[in-house]
Amino acid sequence: QPPSACPHGGPAAPRPSAPDLFTWEFASNPYPAYSWLREHAPVHRTELPSGVEAWLVTRYADARQALADQRLSKNPAHHDEPAHAKGKTGIPGERKAELMTHLLNIDPPDHTRLRRLVSKAFTPRRVAEFAPRVQELTDQLIDRFGEKGEADLIHEFAFPLPIYAICDLLGVPREDQDDFRDWAGMMIRHGGGPRGGVARSVKKMRNYLADLIHRKRADPGDDLISGLIRASDHGEHLTENEAAAMAFILLFAGFETTVNLIGNGTYALLTHPEQRAELQRSLGAGETALLETGVEELLRFDGPVELATWRFATEPLRIGGQDIAAGDPVLVVLAAADRDPARFPDPDLLDLSRVDNQHLGYGHGIHYCLGAPLARLEGQTALATLLRRLPDLQLAVEPEELRWRGGLIMRGLRTLPVTFTPPGR
Ligand code: HEM
Repeated sequence: QPPSACPHGGPAAPRPSAPDLFTWEFASNPYPAYSWLREHAPVHRTELPSGVEAWLVTRYADARQALADQRLSKNPAHHDEPAHAKGKTGIPGERKAELMTHLLNIDPPDHTRLRRLVSKAFTPRRVAEFAPRVQELTDQLIDRFGEKGEADLIHEFAFPLPIYAICDLLGVPREDQDDFRDWAGMMIRHGGGPRGGVARSVKKMRNYLADLIHRKRADPGDDLISGLIRASDHGEHLTENEAAAMAFILLFAGFETTVNLIGNGTYALLTHPEQRAELQRSLGAGETALLETGVEELLRFDGPVELATWRFATEPLRIGGQDIAAGDPVLVVLAAADRDPARFPDPDLLDLSRVDNQHLGYGHGIHYCLGAPLARLEGQTALATLLRRLPDLQLAVEPEELRWRGGLIMRGLRTLPVTFTPPGR
């Protein structure tokens, strides 16, 4: 029986055996199934749609521990792959190797070195200085669709905002940014697989980035790519390949995640009118505290990253009392951990004022999201501006009619049709 509670609803109905995962119903509301797993099979071996078998870790305490466990490697070479599953984790070296040796696929000491270098260029200060530009982009996008009184907030707002923002930050000239929007659109619509249009888009992006890095080396600016080239640590610099892989992972990790933060977050506000009214009231009074805790709560409640990226056991180990063999893939289910009643009182309740909220939406440990300050800036600016400029924003369809994108790692809506009174300037 697929879970049938209302979207984001209450506890799972009792069930005799493990729920079906990765069905259509599951994609629209995985939370009842995760609740069952947390209670009955907290470290659960399952076959993924790709045929790969992996352990799903669903309790908060186990998830947090696993994310910080250095015996779990990010390097796909540690995957003990059966022949039928070859390459199905979607990341190993057969794909565009030079772009794939990025932060999320490597372990210390390489990870430590690369992360230190990128942290020198991608600083919280650089992000803070970027705030006026994010506000300007947000307003421009609303200006573009505002007069219609209706919009698909995914395609017209949540999708373009992060891609233009990250392009600007990296130093991609404005006239080339629509190409990036199209390549990224291809990747988000057709998933991460290496086939057809997606492969062509990745290739175009790679060639473009390689060329841009070349040009920035000759003619540096005040942008992040120039910063990456300049960054040095004990006399070490990023190689051109490493800089290209870094630019790629910044785009790739910072794009669909932020689309989903804006999409899932707006959807949650529209389906929780009292919470939304409270936030609108506080914004109207010029307060920012509820916006800040609210965006964290939206990340906990229905975050963009449903499962953390692949990890592989480098030696036999135990998680939550379960033995895991060397070579086994482990997937930490952030969305399940963040609804764990053992950590969060009333976990299925959206409470924008929640303060004791150490959610795992940005991960934990050495791979903790590098872009969290940028994501917070974009999420807060986007949601606050939507509510301010389109105060009567409402869903144009019933929640059940909305479709969620499939895909293992991310959780987000395909479309978010809304109506509103056209705003003034
Ligand atoms: C890593 C979430 C936005 C760059 C991660 C991880 C999570 C995450 C869960 C850890 C994955 C793992 O351990 O398997 C999010 C969410 C975002 C967001 C929810 C938006 C709301 C961004 C942005 C950027 C970014 C805007 C950059 C522009 C990165 C990078 C890593 C990362 C580079 C890898 C860090 C490492 O391995 O050391 N993110 N992210 N993210 N994120 Fe984000």
